[in-house]
Amino acid sequence: MTRFSRKITHAWLTVIGLSMLLSACNGGGDVATINTTLFGNSFKGPVDAASVVVTDEAGKVLAKGQSVKGKFSFPALILPTDGQAIYIISQSGNYTDEATGSLVNVGSARLMTVFTAVNLKVRIANSSMIVLTPETTLMALLVKDLVAKGVIADAAITQAKNTIQTQLIDGTSPMPRLPGDTLQVSGDFTLAVPNNQTESFARNRAISFSYETQTLRLKPVQVFELVKVRALDLQDGVLDGLQNSVRLSLTDQYGTVIALDKMDQRNSYKAERARLFNHTVNKFTNNNNAVNQAALIQTQQLLTAINLPAFQHLPVLVDEDGNLNDAYATFTFTATDHVNVTINAPGKSWTTPMMRYNGMQLPPVVRANRGDAMTLNLVNTLATDTTIHWHGFKIPGAQDGGPDFPVAAAASKTYRFTMQQPAAPLWFHPHPDMKTGEQVYRGLAGVFLLDDAITKQLEANNQLPSGAVDIPILVQDRSFNADVYGNGVRTLFYQDMMNGGGMEGMLASDILVNGSVLPQLSVGTRQYRFRLYNTSNARTYNFALSDGAMFMVIATDGGLLPKPIMVSQIKLSPAERAEIVIDFSKYTVGTNVMLVSKPFGGAMMGGANNTGVITPPANGVHLDVMRFDVTQVVADSVTLYTSLPNHADINTQRLTAADSFRTRNFVMSMLNVNGSMTFVFNNRLFDMARIDETITLAQGNTEIWSIQNMTPMAHPFHAHAIQWQILDRSGVAASGVDLGWKDTVLVHPGETVRFIGRFDPVVNFGDYMYHCHILEHEDAGMMGFFRIQ
Ligand code: C2O
Ligand code: CU
Ligand code: CU
Repeated sequence: MTRFSRKITHAWLTVIGLSMLLSACNGGGDVATINTTLFGNSFKGPVDAASVVVTDEAGKVLAKGQSVKGKFSFPALILPTDGQAIYIISQSGNYTDEATGSLVNVGSARLMTVFTAVNLKVRIANSSMIVLTPETTLMALLVKDLVAKGVIADAAITQAKNTIQTQLIDGTSPMPRLPGDTLQVSGDFTLAVPNNQTESFARNRAISFSYETQTLRLKPVQVFELVKVRALDLQDGVLDGLQNSVRLSLTDQYGTVIALDKMDQRNSYKAERARLFNHTVNKFTNNNNAVNQAALIQTQQLLTAINLPAFQHLPVLVDEDGNLNDAYATFTFTATDHVNVTINAPGKSWTTPMMRYNGMQLPPVVRANRGDAMTLNLVNTLATDTTIHWHGFKIPGAQDGGPDFPVAAAASKTYRFTMQQPAAPLWFHPHPDMKTGEQVYRGLAGVFLLDDAITKQLEANNQLPSGAVDIPILVQDRSFNADVYGNGVRTLFYQDMMNGGGMEGMLASDILVNGSVLPQLSVGTRQYRFRLYNTSNARTYNFALSDGAMFMVIATDGGLLPKPIMVSQIKLSPAERAEIVIDFSKYTVGTNVMLVSKPFGGAMMGGANNTGVITPPANGVHLDVMRFDVTQVVADSVTLYTSLPNHADINTQRLTAADSFRTRNFVMSMLNVNGSMTFVFNNRLFDMARIDETITLAQGNTEIWSIQNMTPMAHPFHAHAIQWQILDRSGVAASGVDLGWKDTVLVHPGETVRFIGRFDPVVNFGDYMYHCHILEHEDAGMMGFFRIQ
């Protein structure tokens, strides 16, 4: 079986469709007379009040003019009749910098372009508008250098274009090989919405230079310096930070010298383009658009709806070893297909055949204590391989349930390990090769709540809500096919990337909360602790309350935060968890409040799966999740803890960058596999036979992993075996909820996230996976192996 049995051609189309969204159709008017005016624009942001000159190859000024909001024109321009180079140069004036929003005075810096005299005449005759951007400036600087070396203008222009295309554009686009991603010498870039895709990409590239300038901590006006240095760099045809093997550098606004050969320049430029691409598309998609407005109105209506299904509590499994209080625990999970599950939704319900453990209607909850020796039996009655992966657990590789240890159809396996980590909201799910997404989607997943002495103490001291007010909430989106036989049965709709699914993974139509669509939970006027799990395959949620009320985040993936953090929203990507405390005492009885997902910049790639029933909401639009109905006054004896005891692992094991033995770099990128675009790490597809990283504990057990996202969409990075601490995101030190234990970290487009972790010599040995937890990406090969020895 190959990962891509089919070409993902439709993903291409949707991406192009999105880019077209940036375009509009306002084609140039036809002019009947012979034109003699050169029209152009100077763009780095439209440059206003620039002085623009046209010179010949020798530097003789042929015409002078001024730009108005970027645009300039030279009526009745007389050009030489030969093929010499004609330069158009824009100097001084000002523009608004897109990255920082500041007004930049260009001063003596220059934007330029170059044409042969012959070519420019043709453009004038055609009324085509020429453009001066950072990349045409690079071109002109390279041409000048070549012409000075004796190359004739025409050949020099061809060579310079070629260098810029191969070194700066090809392979640096956030979407590889997008049609129209080519050096652009004409167009009207003063339009916020360019005339076509080629122009919108070129305009984006021009702006990317400002973002790169910002990332390099240069002053906005130093963008021109950056362009100049790039031209020097490119004189030898290669972007490597060197000019004739001499290192090029820039001095940032704080006086620090940046050696340009030290950075991976192609990556830095590419990352900026991805960041900007995301930023630009967001402007057109998720911000206050009609979809979100309509969804907000729907939320208001649903706050008083009387037909919401009742919230279902997940069933807690009972330890099978006969003693609930000893340090041993045994549980059995029979993976079963064709379980008829009742799905309740507002005003309706139906039956859906699903995969479930032990034939249960809902995913189970396992509860265990730190130090417990676990015996976990998996009985596979499915028609295919499965495994149980213990997500977030610090356990040996052979017990970890990765795709390297499949449990065949009709076979069984017993997982044994001892829990040696802090109390945490962990979970488990199948992890068979190329089938993880489908099996999780069809219903195989469960909650694993680990307790420890600290949480027990906090609960006993009334410093954590517990018992009946400690409630797991599993959020998973699913799409259902129509009830074709009229018998109340709706099968699940599923598509992965190998079978025509969208590039964003399986985004589905209905948001299930503990198995129901939009349930309501009756609560009293007190604090509740919710274990919020995003176990969706591909969808990210930005959880918030519909009235904007603040709530506390007390734990992340791997355990309690050193202190509770008050937030108004928390973004959880697939596989991320958070424990939150909502205080309903501020509401009067009779108030309803909705748990919603607030809009965020998420939809990038298009290509949502088409269910034929309902088109799923884009990732990032406003969604209703569930409703809390405050129905009674109750007493609350809980005063939430304000800091964890000093001996908590998160306090005793806090790491800093100085603790690390080494840094490993992972780049999220795109790869063309037999004509299909897919996401990968470090430019290679997952290979079961390849160990990508080897960690030798005897040499050093503490590592920084640095994840750079050079794709135009966000990906949740997950590694088995360990709980990490985030150090920084694109250089900004971690704060807030990023200070908790993490096993899954969302990395935004253009972002580099560094985290640090210490592998435990007692439990960490063997082979483990790291992967994107958008399960369709993982199944398609956005995964790697690491070996701990
Ligand atoms: Cu939940 Cu390999 O992951
Ligand atoms: Cu995992
Ligand atoms: Cu991904």
